[in-house]
Amino acid sequence: MDFVDQLKSQVNIVNVIGQYVQLKKASRDRYSGLCPFHKEKTGSFSVSESKQFYHCFGCHVSGDVLKFVMEIEGVSFYEALKGLAERHGIPMPKRSEYADEDSKTRAALMQMHELAQEHFHANLHGSSGEIARAYLAGRGVQPETIEQFGLGYSLPSGRSLLRMFEERQFPAAQMEASGLVGRSQSGGYYDRFRNRLMFPIHNEAGKIIAFGGRALAADENAKYLNSPETPIYRKSYTLYNLHRAKDAIRKEQRAILVEGYMDAIGVSAAGVGAVVASCGTALTAQQIQAIKRHAPNIVVNFDPDAAGSKATEKSIGMLLEEDMKVRIMELDGGLDPDEYCKRRGADAYRQKLDRAKGYFYWLADGARKKYDVHTSEGVVSVLQFLLPAVQRISDRLERSAIASDVASYIGVPASMVLDSFRKSAAERHEKYIELPKTSVRPDERGLIAVLLSNAEGCDGLIEDLTRVETLDRLDTRRILQAIIAVHAAGGRVTFDAVAARLEDNDRRILAEMLFADDPAAEEFGIEWGRKCIERLLGAGERQRYMQLKTRINELERAGKLDEAMRLMQELGRLSRGNSASRRGVQ
Ligand code: CTP
Ligand code: MN
Repeated sequence: MDFVDQLKSQVNIVNVIGQYVQLKKASRDRYSGLCPFHKEKTGSFSVSESKQFYHCFGCHVSGDVLKFVMEIEGVSFYEALKGLAERHGIPMPKRSEYADEDSKTRAALMQMHELAQEHFHANLHGSSGEIARAYLAGRGVQPETIEQFGLGYSLPSGRSLLRMFEERQFPAAQMEASGLVGRSQSGGYYDRFRNRLMFPIHNEAGKIIAFGGRALAADENAKYLNSPETPIYRKSYTLYNLHRAKDAIRKEQRAILVEGYMDAIGVSAAGVGAVVASCGTALTAQQIQAIKRHAPNIVVNFDPDAAGSKATEKSIGMLLEEDMKVRIMELDGGLDPDEYCKRRGADAYRQKLDRAKGYFYWLADGARKKYDVHTSEGVVSVLQFLLPAVQRISDRLERSAIASDVASYIGVPASMVLDSFRKSAAERHEKYIELPKTSVRPDERGLIAVLLSNAEGCDGLIEDLTRVETLDRLDTRRILQAIIAVHAAGGRVTFDAVAARLEDNDRRILAEMLFADDPAAEEFGIEWGRKCIERLLGAGERQRYMQLKTRINELERAGKLDEAMRLMQELGRLSRGNSASRRGVQ
């Protein structure tokens, strides 16, 4: 077994995918959830535990655990392998043949970030860190919070990180690519972050991929300086604190979205762990999808200023577009989430959180302030303003409930609101995905299920299979031939090894039939596989028998009696052989 097979035999695909997608057990061997690779409302994304692969009945992606990690994390094969090995405590072979150039660069960049974080953190606790420690103390950040979030301090000197990288002989190109080191016009290198409070930013797997740096000196021109996009940091895919928050998000089935690093830290320290922040960019669809993989509900808690409400309004649209259930939390006193937790206390914050209202009320509030609802033009404007949001509510009952709420809110009859909603809200048709019925015959299906289970004795079965004369007439011939080829090449017969040799359509047929419950294949295993082969052999012989009979009739009619005689003897041999082989099975 090579390392890839060894790793795959030690990790369970259901657990790995389960860290990114909420999976429910849908049947004996099918776990299902919302597909992370396309937009859907019903879980057509399926994972097979016994065959260790996934398949989406909606968008038809499929693969094994490594392919999943590659796709969801946007990493190379080598990185997926390494990441899984690390997470499962399986030592990687030292010199790896799997690493390509890009992967090596990215691994070096990750290592540089790890080192940088240790460096920043040590600075914070060192003699020059007084200014940063005082700042944190002034903002009421507790020592354990500093540790939990790995906060640090970049020295003002401007070369200390650079020197450390040089000592460790990172090539100049890599230092520049890391975004941690800048290059001046005269060609000299310097630390990008100087005299700043440093926030490490992690990917969902918990690796440091970037930093945010907050100015400590008031005269600094940028309050925040963030890492640029690098080969390991894609801003639009990253949410600050997601790797820590995701367990709580799942447990509570909702995430809290704030604007700033300090907000995420303050809210989390107040005991609300399910909090994430976008890193200084407008919310993106990819960030929303990353949240949605863990929970369908979100509470938006932006700063209570004009910029905050603008951002809130924009996010509502984006979140509804992704079918999230959205509530808005507004804080009084002009306090941002971090300040609110500090000044009013964690309990007050949590109470506000529990009372956060649906986004609709927030929008209606805004509309009510903007238009005069005492005039009929004003009412029409309010309704016009709300309609785009109404159209996005897919549930009819929810829509009419909201209509009557909004009506009493703006002081008009409910029927009026409902009418205007009804006119423009295109009814959405909810789709429930039923698994497509597989058209593959039970014998072939059963055999393939057994062969892919890698049970002992499969080798013999595959050899028998090569002797099935009708093989090239079976619907699943290409799949069976792929199995034979994988086996002949000395590989393990797994879903992905077989799928790699198939065209899209056959790959789909294979995935779909493997999810069609086949209790017999499961229960009787290899025995069942043998029976399936016998039946395929039998079916072949029956077919030959019928052909012979037809041919004999033709010959007789044509008066070619000699040849008819010869074929009749063959027919006799065939039926004797047939009953013998049938005795053999039972
Ligand atoms: N931000 C940024 N660049 C800036 C200002 C802000 O990237 N010049 C981003 C940072 O990610 C910051 C977030 O926008 O965390 C929110 O900004 P702000 O509310 O000003 O920051 P806080 O994290 O709340 O920081 P503080 O409370 O220290 O002001
Ligand atoms: Mn702030």
